[in-house]
Amino acid sequence: MDNQSAAGCYIDITKRHTFGIPTRAMGWQEYGSVEALQALLNDLRSRNVDFMPIGQGSNLLFLHDYRGVLLHSAIGGVELVEQDADNVLVRAGSGVVWDDFVAYCVASGWSGVENLSYIPGEVGASAVQNIGAYGVEVCDVISCVEAVDVMTGCVHKFLLDECAYGYRDSIFKQSLRGRYIITSVTYKLSRRPLFRLDYGNLQQAVGENPTLQSVRDAVIEIRRRKLPETNELGSAGSFFVNPVISRSRYDELLRRYPDMPHYPVDETTVKVPAGWLIDRLGWKGKSRGGAMVYPQQCLVIVNTGSATADDVAALAADIARSVWETYRITIKPEVNYIG
Ligand code: EPU
Repeated sequence: MDNQSAAGCYIDITKRHTFGIPTRAMGWQEYGSVEALQALLNDLRSRNVDFMPIGQGSNLLFLHDYRGVLLHSAIGGVELVEQDADNVLVRAGSGVVWDDFVAYCVASGWSGVENLSYIPGEVGASAVQNIGAYGVEVCDVISCVEAVDVMTGCVHKFLLDECAYGYRDSIFKQSLRGRYIITSVTYKLSRRPLFRLDYGNLQQAVGENPTLQSVRDAVIEIRRRKLPETNELGSAGSFFVNPVISRSRYDELLRRYPDMPHYPVDETTVKVPAGWLIDRLGWKGKSRGGAMVYPQQCLVIVNTGSATADDVAALAADIARSVWETYRITIKPEVNYIG
């Protein structure tokens, strides 16, 4: 491992984030335990060095070189902590690769995360971002989240209700942004398969007599078809979150755009696919410098090889502006800009 101290010399982190845009940072430190993280934080605080936790870097756009140390969890392990006739409680270290965790659950016959197969990233970041796909969000199965307070070094256990989960949102992205570093997540999974196949054409892709493995296989197949493999084409998955608008606004838009899809959120609001809005404006395959709207899924911006962060940000801003000018809908990045 290329652990380095932040002695003013920058290291290359281009391969540490999935956009693959050349970037450097003052250091990269891994920790394999809560105690190691506490010691690291203590040291960085005492030297007044900036730091930021990073998983697989699958949701980040570095606008410049990062003037601080990136902290990466190597806390591994998946542990069965409790079980009864119906459910298991499973605790995973924040550094476990998310899709390895999903594969392990599927192989163990534990249901709840199979729809979330093949999402890039690690366990810790998944609980910050509240990752979701095919009708399931990770908060549906989270029981609690353990995290270290970066100011005090104390460990805090957040129960599900304390995490303020929403669509791609959590307390760790809002009021506690930057305050805690997640060290483990505990999930409540079902010992009986509870299939959720009502999203899009998932049911059709899975076919008759589903199993956890066949759902996982179908999701992987769909994702491979629609989304770029980040080791081949840099990206950060969905660049924007799908906007939530009022039903009355949606009804108005529907009169002008009768085929506009939507997902009900609650009685008064609906979610509209930003990919559809963008696609309809002719952005598919359009580029700015080396950044391009992915032709198979307009919600994704890819690095065709020579993109700079400015290219990506400029393309994203142009897209958001055109969506606003046409539909009077604001779309916001899901990707975190690090400036
Ligand atoms: N659509 C288009 N053109 C496009 C893309 C989408 O017309 O270029 C239409 C589709 O035909 C469909 C609708 O928009 O009617 C929704 O598309 P899709 O099912 O691909 O889902 P999405 O809303 O674009 C969300 C998540 C994805 C997740 C999929 C599947 C967000 C921001 N994105 O995308 O998550 O995989 O649903 O559940 O909510 C990610 O977060 O990185 C990610 C890939």
